[in-house]
Amino acid sequence: MNGSAPVGGDAVDDLLAGVRVEVHPLTTRDLTVLDGYRLHGRIGEGGQGSVYLGTDDARGLVAVKVLHANWVADPASRDRLAGEVAAARRVPALCTARLLDARLDGPTPYLVTEFVDGPSLQRQVRSNGPLAGDALDRLAVGTLTALITIHRAGLVHHDVKPGNVLLGPDGPRVVDFGIAAPTGTVSPGASSTDGVLATPAFMAPEQLDPAEVTPAADLFSWASTMTFAATGRSPFHAGDEAALLHRLEHEAPDLAGVPQHLRSLLRSCLIKDPQLRPSAQQALNRLLEDLQPAGPPATPVWGTPDSGATAPAPPPAAAGAPDRRPQAVRHRPPTAGRRGGRRRRHSSKRLLAVVAVVVAVRLASGADAGSTEQPRPAAPAAHQNAPAAP
Ligand SMILES: Nc1ncnc2c1ncn2[C@@H]1O[C@H](COP(=O)(O)OP(=O)(O)OP(=O)(O)O)[C@@H](O)[C@H]1O
Ligand SMILES: [Mg+2]
Repeated sequence: MNGSAPVGGDAVDDLLAGVRVEVHPLTTRDLTVLDGYRLHGRIGEGGQGSVYLGTDDARGLVAVKVLHANWVADPASRDRLAGEVAAARRVPALCTARLLDARLDGPTPYLVTEFVDGPSLQRQVRSNGPLAGDALDRLAVGTLTALITIHRAGLVHHDVKPGNVLLGPDGPRVVDFGIAAPTGTVSPGASSTDGVLATPAFMAPEQLDPAEVTPAADLFSWASTMTFAATGRSPFHAGDEAALLHRLEHEAPDLAGVPQHLRSLLRSCLIKDPQLRPSAQQALNRLLEDLQPAGPPATPVWGTPDSGATAPAPPPAAAGAPDRRPQAVRHRPPTAGRRGGRRRRHSSKRLLAVVAVVVAVRLASGADAGSTEQPRPAAPAAHQNAPAAP
């Protein structure tokens, strides 16, 4: 479905009829019009806002993310939406949903992005089971490419998870820059009450503490997301949240069921020490190398520039030839030095504090207590029972 054609009148019905993703009908609490956008149904629900399928006369189908009425009066929530807009502006649109418009100062703050007509990875796996074969490899390549563009923009996404990967008809898109932060800044950590939390099942262990924001966190979350894509579960799945957080910090990931060719790459991204993980570019290079079929390169059909003749194929690589992969990408088990000592000094007191904040924030935001998919925004100082309509 191409959402870029100008629309009006009956053309809107035609556009809506072609939409493939599930669209939930509006309720009486939903807006039907927001500035120049008509809203036709809900396509997503998050911790902070609802996402609507909208139409705009000039652009056709769009996605409109609206801050929940409960959070409109909360300056921190408005600031986060402003931060999401600023981050989305910095990232090339090729692997995300292009930011089209935003209005942050009105009674109903919102942002508008290109509509991606495909399910989230979360929905896809829940409805149809794990991905395998080329579809899984394509997802890995597309999402790593997205991370490269995000990191080159000087940002860390900080919330890479199955609900934030959309399986568009032309490839995967990484969306939702709600808690993205510039590289090198200090994140508040999960035990802070003033930050939106990433999702425990997919977050990196260093996100539990106030820490310098580095792209390595996204590689960890990417590997957890890929594990979910391949198996339908996080590599740190566990009974309750405390057990999950404990495994996240102290235990090896469970990669059973992940195809062999992805396993060591994912394991290297899931190293507890962020400094030992590969960069997104290194991970992509290694993945492409691992996906290359064994044997000599195929003879190019277009020939060589000078002779017009086809180039002779080079001899096959000798058995035992050196591994040409960049050293930093190879799996290195975490050493006892560096941050290992700090991890071991982890106190159960802090774990309890993190769990307490997670539970309190979950209760405050009304999130489903059994879900590990929703990020939990910190509660605003005062909830406002404002009607959804301006
Ligand atoms: N541009 C888009 N095109 C199509 N669907 C979208 C788009 N943006 C968001 N969605 C849908 O809405 C859902 C929630 O979007 P998003 O993650 O941006 O909101 P959120 O409030 O931050 O959610 P969460 O807090 O769960 O991460 C997505 O999982 C997806 O299903
Ligand atoms: Mg999201």
